[in-house]
Amino acid sequence: MLDNQLLKIAQDFGSPVYVYDAKKIENQYKRLTSAFKNVKKLKINYAVKALSNISILKLLKSLGSGIDTVSIQEVQLGLAAGFSPEQIIFTPNGVSLDEIEEAAKLGVKINIDNLSILEQFGTKHPKVPVCIRINPHVMAGGNANISVGHIDSKFGISIHQIPHILRIVENTKMTINGIHMHTGSDILDIEVFLYASEILFDTAKQFKNLEFIDFGSGFKVPYKQGDIETNIEELGKKLSARFNDFCKSYGKDLTLAFEPGKFLVSESGSFLTKVNAVKQTTSTVFAQVDSGFNHLIRPMFYGSHHDIVNISNPKGRERFYTVVGYICETDTFGNNRRINEINEGDILSFKNAGAYCFSMASNYNSRFRPAEVLWHNNEAHLIRKRETFEDILNNQIEVDFSSKKETVLEK
Ligand SMILES: Cc1ncc(COP(=O)(O)O)c(C=O)c1O
Repeated sequence: MLDNQLLKIAQDFGSPVYVYDAKKIENQYKRLTSAFKNVKKLKINYAVKALSNISILKLLKSLGSGIDTVSIQEVQLGLAAGFSPEQIIFTPNGVSLDEIEEAAKLGVKINIDNLSILEQFGTKHPKVPVCIRINPHVMAGGNANISVGHIDSKFGISIHQIPHILRIVENTKMTINGIHMHTGSDILDIEVFLYASEILFDTAKQFKNLEFIDFGSGFKVPYKQGDIETNIEELGKKLSARFNDFCKSYGKDLTLAFEPGKFLVSESGSFLTKVNAVKQTTSTVFAQVDSGFNHLIRPMFYGSHHDIVNISNPKGRERFYTVVGYICETDTFGNNRRINEINEGDILSFKNAGAYCFSMASNYNSRFRPAEVLWHNNEAHLIRKRETFEDILNNQIEVDFSSKKETVLEK
């Protein structure tokens, strides 16, 4: 998308506003499927948590994607978007048995990552096939908060507990139809990914009724010019060959599944904010925008980088700014950034704002969550209205403190 198209959207829909480019999502989806074109059965299950607007889900459905969900609400959202239950996998962590049963009742694929739940579920529902999430004990991921496959992580069942899984399967007569791993986000080195995959293949050998192997996700996308990204094409070549070999030795064409979030939607998104004030202090120049970590928390939560561009003054001379929000805690989006000269009222565009941005937004400071716009076929479509004050009050229940009635003590 061009900066002047973004600027027009900010003018038409106000700020702050999230904008997603449908073409970019489509291109990323095609890039991934073509990297794995040598695999007979490939399934991409988009990780809904990254960006869960129903129009985005429908767009991905139209491309042929399934979805990966982590809560019963995401399952329901997927069904509302038109996905059939077989196109949905439920990969929760730390949820109750009740919630897993609710998802199973809806007919979606179930992925379990806890021995106790596996035993209870298998005992009660031996006829419902289940995928298991393995923890391969591999340290991968760009940041401690998004590295989830290591030994101290709460995710997955340890590879050292495979004998226990096999015992549960034997005792309950349940069927394991899939093996899954997700080692973390922002994986730079595909060798680490391939190494973890070998562990998964080794595990898979021990289960006789598999239909799919799910390699999770964690593909790194570029955040700035020249940034390293996961080499999907090379991973596709190497992992496909290895997967096809495995299928031969297993004696069946299994489905190779992935569940990418960031890879599909991160770069499609721009977050547009207006500069409320430019504030010069003794040490820096702050650009203060009409947003904060209530709308985009990733830089403060796990130090993620979002390029920031002044789309109102693209030819202005470059100066250094620290871009901050209006929240009552420190909410720095970018420190010492070189940006074209900023004037109050200018629109700043934050890049890579498709994944884990709106979906992590809140009403902190009683602010409205932003509008969302999808740029599709050269047209801007409003896909979520900006909230209003009614949304802030919605579900709050007022207590009437004006009543003068004396409390009567019971005798
Ligand atoms: C189980 C699981 N699958 C897939 C994803 C998506 O990861 P990414 O957005 O890095 O592709 C996540 C992210 O947290 C996850 O926890």
